[in-house]
Amino acid sequence: MKNIRNFCIIAHIDHGKSTLADRLLDATGSVTEREKQDQLLDNMDLERERGITIKSHAIQMEYPYQGETYILNLIDTPGHVDFSYEVSRSIAACEGALLVVDAAQSIQAQTISNLYLALENDLEIIPVLNKVDLPSANPEEVTDDIVDLLGCRPEEVIPASAKTGLGIEDILKAVIERIPAPKGDPEAPLQALVFDSVYNPFRGVETYFRVMNGVIRKGQRVKFMATGKVYDADEIGTLKLHQVPKTSIAAGDVGYLITGVKDAREIKVGDTITSAEKPTTEAISGFEDVKPMVFAGIYPVDTEDYEELRNSMEKLRLNDASLVFTPESSAALGFGFRCGFLGMLHMEIVQERLEREFDMTVITTVPNVSYHAYTKKDPEAHIIVNNPSDLPDPTTLDRVEEPYIKATVITKSDFIGNVMSLCIDKRGQITNQTYLTQDRVELNFDMPLAEIVFDFYDRLKTVSKGYASFDYSPIGMRPSKLVRVDILLNAQMVDALSALVHADNAYHIGKKMCEKLKELIPRQQFDIPIQAAIGAKIISRETIKALRKDVTAKCYGGDISRKRKLLEKQKKGKKRMRQVGNVEIPQQAFMAVLKLN
Ligand code: GTP
Repeated sequence: MKNIRNFCIIAHIDHGKSTLADRLLDATGSVTEREKQDQLLDNMDLERERGITIKSHAIQMEYPYQGETYILNLIDTPGHVDFSYEVSRSIAACEGALLVVDAAQSIQAQTISNLYLALENDLEIIPVLNKVDLPSANPEEVTDDIVDLLGCRPEEVIPASAKTGLGIEDILKAVIERIPAPKGDPEAPLQALVFDSVYNPFRGVETYFRVMNGVIRKGQRVKFMATGKVYDADEIGTLKLHQVPKTSIAAGDVGYLITGVKDAREIKVGDTITSAEKPTTEAISGFEDVKPMVFAGIYPVDTEDYEELRNSMEKLRLNDASLVFTPESSAALGFGFRCGFLGMLHMEIVQERLEREFDMTVITTVPNVSYHAYTKKDPEAHIIVNNPSDLPDPTTLDRVEEPYIKATVITKSDFIGNVMSLCIDKRGQITNQTYLTQDRVELNFDMPLAEIVFDFYDRLKTVSKGYASFDYSPIGMRPSKLVRVDILLNAQMVDALSALVHADNAYHIGKKMCEKLKELIPRQQFDIPIQAAIGAKIISRETIKALRKDVTAKCYGGDISRKRKLLEKQKKGKKRMRQVGNVEIPQQAFMAVLKLN
């Protein structure tokens, strides 16, 4: 145990975490030439394309130092707020963390939020100043920022470049010298923390764990404490680039477990594995059941594909335990599912995977957060509103509550004014303002989660010219003035276009939605009135004028290939259209409310 080091890398997105991890694997000879790929740890196609680590993984390296061989377990953490619970569990499996800071970008919102998580878990922090090779790097200044943030000495900050390889040996030495060896009692009853799980279509769910106490042995009966389920440990082992089966793994070490479980939902990240025969009495603290934060309807473009969509979603759920869905039906779209996601990125990933892996073309409706509605009849019990159509009639409604978050924005002092007005515009309340350095400031806000779903990121980027980073964590439910804005096309209500919005914004949003839909819905042979309404009250109206000219007329009759291209483009566009009554609605229209500004 004294030669084991368990550590993770924490960083703001794009500061070089994955590149550094690859470098460490290289430097410890953990990878052969043949195995070298661009980003070794990001082995899902989608991850590689998006350049982000979605799922955390663990990998074991060996490193000889001062005549002894050390086992270094690197536990990779996901970089996006949607997956912050997974970050917190990976961190809990470690004794130390490399805090990677980009020498050009300095400290950003996720640097801080991840650092807090690491400090809460008493991790030894090794600051790494990455990308010092960049011409735009500011090594002295950023080192000062790090020293201020951590209260460490400047010499403790390791200058490095994951690109050129500078500083990599220093980092490995620091991992061994500064991070404490794991503690734990191999004689005690088994207690292992599940920090991740991955679905493998051939072998079932692979569970990644860190043994805190005791020993896990191949073939033994293991119990998962949160779910109460018992399985056989069919295979255990350590994770190199490939799995290396072992007969036992003892306190302090990290490994994988295969039990034959086929459904990702049976294995919960954060759970404690113990022995079924001699169980521990204490589960490792901090287990949480992850809850979806954002809900949207997913419908097949072709109503006949409903069963196929159900099959695809069920398969997807086998390897994405955080995806939840229940059947729902819409007068406009027919049968589909109300799905819950961890956040907007998670929603996009699910949609993309449905298309790529299952060849499903789907329509996604306006996402919303989960509200609590209380009726006058029973003002104590709340009704969960995950869908605009679940909101009780306004006349029977006592009150509504919505989820709030604590938001952290780090920006340059020049943009404080802009960021503050944006946050206030988004119903935020400033709770704190701290200067991290002379021209970098951290702002804290309490803000409704719903406002993040609507274009917050894009606007933050715009008002700060890209110099703002953002992170958030949920802080519970607060009262809200919520109304449902309905859309009528041709005097017919289209339920799938309804949106839940704050009463103060309802008129503005209703008007904008009508304008946007006018742009997006193709013209037909007849006039199409578009109306926005709250209950029976019409709050806005636009009209799509009837089509008069031939669509290909704008090609001036000349170029035949251009004409064909246009027709083909239209045909393609059709794929993602839904006929509602006698009006065709394109996919973008369902999401229009998100992009109103
Ligand atoms: P996520 O996985 O999305 O959180 O990002 P990350 O923090 O893992 O960053 P990643 O390793 O993907 O690096 C982001 C970008 O910075 C990539 O284009 C890298 O090639 C580049 N990069 C990483 N380290 C260095 C470095 O030391 N020098 C330079 N010049 N570029 C680097």
